[in-house]
Amino acid sequence: MLINNDTIVKDSDPKIRQKSKPVSLPLSKEDETLLRELFQYVKDSTDPELAEANNLRPAVGISAIQVGVPKQLTAVIVHEVDNEEKEITHEYMLVNPKIVSSSVQKAYLNSGEGCLSVQEEHEGHVVRSARVTVKAFDLIQNKEITIRARGYLAIVLQHELDHFKGVLFYDHINPNNPFEEIEGALVI
Ligand code: CO
Repeated sequence: MLINNDTIVKDSDPKIRQKSKPVSLPLSKEDETLLRELFQYVKDSTDPELAEANNLRPAVGISAIQVGVPKQLTAVIVHEVDNEEKEITHEYMLVNPKIVSSSVQKAYLNSGEGCLSVQEEHEGHVVRSARVTVKAFDLIQNKEITIRARGYLAIVLQHELDHFKGVLFYDHINPNNPFEEIEGALVI
C-alpha cells in the first residue's frame, strides 16, 4: 500500500470517525503486511531525505484507520531521553492494544498535538492521563506485552488508541478555554 501525505485519510473524510475492529490472532498475512507498512511509514517519515522524496509527514505513530482500514493496528516509534541522559527508543507494532489502567493525574504537551489526518493547526491543551498501562500483542516482540507508559509515550499511545474510537486529538481541547490550566497536570 502506498502511504504518503496524499493517501492518508484526512479529517474531512467521515471514514476517520469510523470505529476500528479487533483483529484475529495469529495475524493474517494481509494484516501483518499492513502493520509492517504502517511501521515503515513512521520510520521513514523521520528521515528528512526519505520524507522529502516520498511526501511523508513526520510522525511518531499511525493507526490503520488513517489508511482507510478500520482494524485495531497501530505503529509507534518514540525517542526519549531518560534521567541519565541516555537515549531510549520505544518501538511497537501493536495489535488490539487496550488501555487497562490510567492514572488520575493528567498530562498534556505544552506545544499541543498534531496528527497525520489533521492539516490545520488546533491549538490548546489536549488533556490526557499522565500514565497508562496498555496490553497488546506486539509484532516486534511477537508476543503479548504490557506497556507501562508515562510522559510522552503515554500521550502518543492514547492519541493512537483514540483513532480506534474515531476520536481526534482536538476533541479533547476545551472549546471555551483551550489553554486551561489543569491542576496537578504534568506539562510535557
Ligand atoms: Co493521529
